[in-house]
Amino acid sequence: MTSRVRPVGGAGHPEVSIHELLTRRWSPRAFLPQGPTKTQLRSMFSAAAWAPSAFNSQPWRFIVGSQPDATWQVIHDCLDDGNRRWAGAAPVLALNVAQLRAGDRDLPTAVYDLGQAVALLTVEALSAGFYVHQMSGFDPRQARLAFDIPNEHAPITAMAIGRKGEPASLPEDLKARELRVRERRALADTVFAARYGLPAPWIHTPVPTALR
Ligand SMILES: Cc1cc2nc3c(=O)[nH]c(=O)nc-3n(C[C@H](O)[C@H](O)[C@H](O)COP(=O)(O)O)c2cc1C
Repeated sequence: MTSRVRPVGGAGHPEVSIHELLTRRWSPRAFLPQGPTKTQLRSMFSAAAWAPSAFNSQPWRFIVGSQPDATWQVIHDCLDDGNRRWAGAAPVLALNVAQLRAGDRDLPTAVYDLGQAVALLTVEALSAGFYVHQMSGFDPRQARLAFDIPNEHAPITAMAIGRKGEPASLPEDLKARELRVRERRALADTVFAARYGLPAPWIHTPVPTALR
């Protein structure tokens, strides 16, 4: 089944009500030049540090650059061409690194745990008016070499952080993507009970009486 929820816009318009911070979350490409203060940055990475992780292994590391420092520039150089078209406007760029092994032990949920840490950072950033746009479009080998990342650690994603800018600041094709309607798979196709693929009975959005 490929049913979709009704279209959602940039500001978010989910099927059922969720926290206002989460409805505001999205991944913009247009950014304003003013970046977070050091205190705001510390809060964001502290939110990440307080994420849950398997056995409290905290298998996340971050390499963070602020324009115009050298770290920002090196991360920017690692991005693929498509992401470089817009991410140059972001005042902060970071690499999100997972620790895959600790001594002789694999950390099989390291990437999962890193993702949770980034999710919490994203919400903390939003609470201060900053948006996070994650990217897998970068060269992990170049990043490993440039920052001397050890073998048992792996750069998984990059992210841009900044205040949301004007879509008009983007090239035409990116502007159209910035303004396009956002969609999500319906909850009934995502949340199951009894058997895989069977919607949980409580998941359906109630139909307003007038439409029955
Ligand atoms: C792991 C991951 C990798 C992503 N890689 C890219 C990327 O390389 N370039 C890009 O423009 N967006 C990237 N995105 C952003 C997604 O395209 C975006 O989250 C998705 O389209 C949903 O849009 P929304 O975040 O605005 O709700 C990535 C997101 C995640 C979580």
